[in-house]
Amino acid sequence: MSSGGGRELRLCLLPGDGIGPEVVAAAMAALTAAGERFSFRIAAQTAAIGGAALRSAGEPLPAATRQAALGAQAVLLGAVGAPEFDGEPKARKPETGLLELRQLLGCWANLRPVRRLAGRTPLRDEVAAGADLIVLRELIGGLYFGEPRGFADNGQAAFNTLRYSVEEIERLARFGFALARRRRRKLTSVDKANVLETSQLWRQVFQRVGAEYPDVALEHMYVDNCAMQLILNPRQFDVLATENLFGDILSDEAGVLAGSLGLLPSASLGGQVGIYEPVHGSAPDLAGKGWANPAGAILSAAMMLRHSFPLEAAATAVETAVTDTLAAGVLTRDLAPPEAAFATTDEFTRAVVGRLRG
Ligand code: NAD
Ligand code: IPM
Ligand code: MN
Repeated sequence: MSSGGGRELRLCLLPGDGIGPEVVAAAMAALTAAGERFSFRIAAQTAAIGGAALRSAGEPLPAATRQAALGAQAVLLGAVGAPEFDGEPKARKPETGLLELRQLLGCWANLRPVRRLAGRTPLRDEVAAGADLIVLRELIGGLYFGEPRGFADNGQAAFNTLRYSVEEIERLARFGFALARRRRRKLTSVDKANVLETSQLWRQVFQRVGAEYPDVALEHMYVDNCAMQLILNPRQFDVLATENLFGDILSDEAGVLAGSLGLLPSASLGGQVGIYEPVHGSAPDLAGKGWANPAGAILSAAMMLRHSFPLEAAATAVETAVTDTLAAGVLTRDLAPPEAAFATTDEFTRAVVGRLRG
């Protein structure tokens, strides 16, 4: 079904910290305009996560937030993280709230699409032009969640565990091959198999599963080389499938291809309720200034319409409104030339909403 038929979309909104509330408000404005055009309504319940939740409830993912997320059809999240909690233990870190949420909702597949969109990039045009890839990041395993972990020897040492099971790797591999089939049929599995046992297992599993997808070209690449290839020749990539930490790092790097980290959206899938959030963080340096680029959050809302409902025509309309706004030269501060005038978060959002209203 491409039109909403008057239905109600039940969302859990988690604005979070820093610029999170600003970009979530922008995404909601775009969703509301899309709903008027495609005949759906948004019923949103807002809850606290991250530093905001630590301040109001003493924990980064309070029970009320867990309940709101589990009861929604999709979660739209801004960002978490605030400098005041930087020195705190794990249980009192805003980031812990986000990691617990991903685990609670079983979101093991994180899609981070990257296309050259607009604005400044330090890369020459002939390098970045035409880049169109998707980072498929494993999201609830690896070093982020492995046990045991902690500090030892009176704080003189610290350790984390990098562990992956065949099952965790295999489900991501199948997701990646199916995704590549709907794109340009190339999958690059990124690992560090020359050093790490987890990567050796990763490579074996991708090799075995890949035999079931003979129409998809599978290649293996070491993560250090991949980091270099991404900015040397990004057009060689279609789907990049990788473990949690590698995917975190490579996706920020890929933001440079798009034009700004503020442009990148994401979808976290695999469980009953998907999480949609921009790739960027809470950018405390920008908060409250009207400088945040809301495109990543608005494009995340488009991914939500596509993957959770699915309202494909509305998703495409939101994406087109964003790309047309950028193409018309409405650029936030991160995209505009250094001394030039730039659009505020609200001005950019109004331009997108105006295009959606037609
Ligand atoms: P960041 O992504 O917040 O910022 C990195 C750089 O990109 C900064 O220069 C920032 O100004 C710029 N930037 C980010 N988003 C932008 C936007 N929408 N528009 C324009 N410019 C933008 O990363 P950081 O500075 O390393 O981390 C800040 C905090 O955010 C930390 O607490 C970190 O843990 C957290 N964080 C959260 C998430 C998340 O919630 N998903 C992701 C990354 C970092
Ligand atoms: C991201 C962020 C998170 C991560 C942090 C805030 C926990 O950097 O979504 O990319 O590392 O996954
Ligand atoms: Mn990150």
